Amino acid sequence: MKIAIGNDHVALELKREILQYLTELGHEVIDMGTYSTERCDYPVFGERTAHAVANGEAERGIVICGTGVGISLAANRVRGIRCVVCSEPYSAGLSRAHNNTNMLAFGARVVGSELAKMIVKTWLETEFEGGRHARRVQMLDEIEG
Ligand code: RB5
Repeated sequence: MKIAIGNDHVALELKREILQYLTELGHEVIDMGTYSTERCDYPVFGERTAHAVANGEAERGIVICGTGVGISLAANRVRGIRCVVCSEPYSAGLSRAHNNTNMLAFGARVVGSELAKMIVKTWLETEFEGGRHARRVQMLDEIEG
């Protein structure tokens, strides 16, 4: 799978670990930055990564900031993006099965790297169940207008 990954300065180290992990799992990764620990603004990288998913450059996106909150909010402003922020695998999996999320966010100040990898793996491996859930996801698109 082709996966875009983005982060702010707080999450640089965790981004690098996750990028390496994704590569080990056999995925192709597009690193949308930031690439240094110089202070930056999470909306820039949330939006950039979300656009890569929305325009089909990547199939899925993963974004990381301090809490995962700000960068997920930025991603969710982009049309067609359904970004879940979570700190455990259960919600990550159900966000795929029921909500067909196409982006995942978590916080470098919230989860350690091993837990982050479990979240990522579950999220990537869980399929959307469709059926009644597809109608609800369609309702989300209708809100977007
Ligand atoms: C940066 O200090 C911090 O605000 C950011 O990483 C993120 O947690 C925002 O939601």
